Amino acid sequence: MLHSFEQLTPLPALPVVPNSWETSHELRRILQDIFINTPRLAHDVFQTKGNFYQAKPLAKHWGKDNVTVLVNAGLLTTHESGGYMNAPYLITEWADNFYLTDFPDTGHEFEVFSPHVEQHGMVDSLTIGPCCCVIEPFVGSGILLLEAVRRGNTGIGIDMSPRALAFARYNADLNGLADRVEFRLGDIQDELPAAIAEINDRPIVILANPPFEPGGEDRPKHSAAGVDGTDALEAMQKIFSGLPPIDQQKISQIHIVTFSLGRKSKQQNTAASDLVVAPIMAGMAEAFGGQCFLKELRRPSAPLDYIRNIFPNDTGEDQTRVADNIYERGYRGIHLVTVSIYCGSQSINPAEVLHWQPYRNNAFGIGPKIPFETPLHRRTMPRKNALVP
Ligand SMILES: C[S@@+](CC[C@H](N)C(=O)[O-])C[C@H]1O[C@@H](n2cnc3c(N)ncnc32)[C@H](O)[C@@H]1O
Repeated sequence: MLHSFEQLTPLPALPVVPNSWETSHELRRILQDIFINTPRLAHDVFQTKGNFYQAKPLAKHWGKDNVTVLVNAGLLTTHESGGYMNAPYLITEWADNFYLTDFPDTGHEFEVFSPHVEQHGMVDSLTIGPCCCVIEPFVGSGILLLEAVRRGNTGIGIDMSPRALAFARYNADLNGLADRVEFRLGDIQDELPAAIAEINDRPIVILANPPFEPGGEDRPKHSAAGVDGTDALEAMQKIFSGLPPIDQQKISQIHIVTFSLGRKSKQQNTAASDLVVAPIMAGMAEAFGGQCFLKELRRPSAPLDYIRNIFPNDTGEDQTRVADNIYERGYRGIHLVTVSIYCGSQSINPAEVLHWQPYRNNAFGIGPKIPFETPLHRRTMPRKNALVP
């Protein structure tokens, strides 16, 4: 059941303090202290919903002034009894940056997508150096783009949700990155080609964690991506193929994280051997005369088992619904991949290639079946799923 935009809690205004690349927001420094010195309490207050805290113990742990700053910033709510309630936002710390999003699974149509394993995987494997312009279609709360910008790039984020962009701007301000990044409201069909056309002085890198859930018309807009979960990928392919050659040449790398679905179960890498996204990615690589590489962030597994593993914070009902959509469409294997397209003659760092697999050696079952090896892969072996027939 979806709700209207007005039913969502509005984002609080960030208190105005001097803010630049050198001096990030006071609130960020307070959050950093709290997450370092009282990690369990920080998790309780900023990563769980609906808890009450007495005023005195909280002030004792965090300092009275800091608690006041958090209250003024809307990240703690005063309670009539004199204590505090936690805010209706999820606050996540990654690499010393803090990101506000909605909690997962609010049931709201315009829920702002929260950090999941896919952003983590993508950030972990992000190899872009400084001096690029990073453009992120489907930018959401800005996590990927801000991480790329933090490494010395400038950025343009595009999203059709005003609520998502309010969070992205807030997060840019909070982390002292606002002067390097801009956010544009609109459909990627219009805004992505326009942004690419504007940039003439730096190589462009495209990053995307697009919606990629199959089916799920009742799902929040951040995830639903048509019958096979490929609507957003197809839209990007169409945009890239339709760019004038002068704009195509500006793009140096494209990194996309997505589900890959397969029709067979249980065998290792069968999801990859029946990869729904491969032809789309091949089409994108072709538009740029580039090479396309897949990196597996999780080994393939049966859908429900897989969804439970990678979306542990979502409710059971939500996990089952996503998995059902996948089963209904005849898919039995699923895994999470990043797809990287290195455009034109751009050279690739050999150390990186070690862990990457050209899609043609895996996606269509041609060539040796070399198992993927990544640190993530080794940490999380899939559990056996009793629900697969
Ligand atoms: C899965 S969320 C990802 C958000 C962000 N990239 C992240 O990793 O947290 C997808 C986002 O794409 C946006 N979106 C979906 N279709 C779009 C379109 N056609 N044009 C622009 N934004 C779109 C949604 O509003 C949502 O914020």
